Amino acid sequence: MPPDGWLNDPNGLCQFNGNYHVFIQYMPNTPGPDGRIVKSWGHYAGPDLMHLEFKGVPFWPGELDYNGCYSGSALVEDGKAYLYYTGNIKHPGDYDYITEGRESNTILIETDGEHFGDKQFLFGTKDYPAECTLHVRDPKVWKENDTYYMVQGARMKGGADGDYGSALFYKSHDKKNWELVKIQTTDEAFGYMWECPEYLEVDGHAIMSLCPQGLEHEPYRYQNIYQSGYAPEIGELEDEKQHIGDFVEWDMGFDFYAPQTFVDEQGRRIMFGWAGLPDKPYKNFYADSYWENCLTVPRVLTYRDGVVLQNPVEELNDLRYDEVRLASDEQVILPDGMGDFEINFKNSSAWRVSFAEGTYLSYADGVVSLELSDEEGGGRKIRRAKVAEVRNMRILVDTSILEIYLNDGEYVMTSRFYPSYKGDKHDLKVKFDCDGTEITGWKMHTMVTNINL
Ligand code: FRU
Repeated sequence: MPPDGWLNDPNGLCQFNGNYHVFIQYMPNTPGPDGRIVKSWGHYAGPDLMHLEFKGVPFWPGELDYNGCYSGSALVEDGKAYLYYTGNIKHPGDYDYITEGRESNTILIETDGEHFGDKQFLFGTKDYPAECTLHVRDPKVWKENDTYYMVQGARMKGGADGDYGSALFYKSHDKKNWELVKIQTTDEAFGYMWECPEYLEVDGHAIMSLCPQGLEHEPYRYQNIYQSGYAPEIGELEDEKQHIGDFVEWDMGFDFYAPQTFVDEQGRRIMFGWAGLPDKPYKNFYADSYWENCLTVPRVLTYRDGVVLQNPVEELNDLRYDEVRLASDEQVILPDGMGDFEINFKNSSAWRVSFAEGTYLSYADGVVSLELSDEEGGGRKIRRAKVAEVRNMRILVDTSILEIYLNDGEYVMTSRFYPSYKGDKHDLKVKFDCDGTEITGWKMHTMVTNINL
């Protein structure tokens, strides 16, 4: 969670010189140097992923990014990080901000992790392909052999058929001069805009992660306002034509968007997601106190039979204390609301877990459902995932978020929920009704140490 204000996408994830760095899209409640409250980056760093400290706002919007330092990524080389991001500019006036009135600059800042260099303008709106609208953003940069690559999300002009999403691939030999390699899209429009695209390898398999906007909702898929997922068989980077093929949603909960990954010094492919969504039709519980949103826990990605598995990094287990074993039907009270549960189902055709008073996770007829009452859901009701068989489940819960990992991380459901607190303690009652299955759980310590409210 940010110390105050608004958080969205994880940005600039990396590890170098002994520290992990997690940047966030951040709009603090305090005005920047020019007196405006505006979106910038926030910076967390620390020697391990469980103890990241908030370091403040490393740079603020200025001439190149007057209306926001938007999302971007980090490339680590020679003990430095190169931060690439989008400088958003919205000209005042009566514009639609799709085909007129907007600029998106691709900007580079070099850092040793503590000091942040000047903003270097790399390219901008005039340089993007003519088929693009003015929505081009979110550079994700990586290196392969001796070449640097960058992918950016774009909304292409579609004329009568409507706009369509695409990813612009660039390459460079010096990290500063970039040449367009290809525009990747689909035969039929897959949404009108792709945000935060990323080309990545998981255990040697190339996949593409993207956040398409504009897909039709379905009862068991695409239930949120915008989607976030991956195309598992993307082909080689050099291929002119790539296929989106089957699109797999990263997460089936109410709150997940704009994930980003990086490879840490142990070689793990780690993903953070934003446990939230833009333009959502309901209100976050804490919005009135100008304190909104959080990231997911860091998740390790692995590949199994064409599917990317997501699991919390193993150091999260270090936060466990007070193991409890529960029989089915038993209730556990978490005094600070934070817990971690593991369940290996014996017989799993139907089960139900209740959190707080009005939050349920249940399984019946091959469908996992997460239901929130009006009070605890803040206006959200139900999310469903079709899962043929649930063999095991891990649940991370704290006073306002649930992360549910099914079948070794094959399906994940991330959701904020707002339990009705009793007294001044953040007690949370969790009850399992799991047909004779024994549950192992732990109370949990908190992750980040220096939130000073
Ligand atoms: C995704 C996104 C990005 C953009 C950023 C702005 O949530 O819309 O495309 O760079 O947020 O905060």
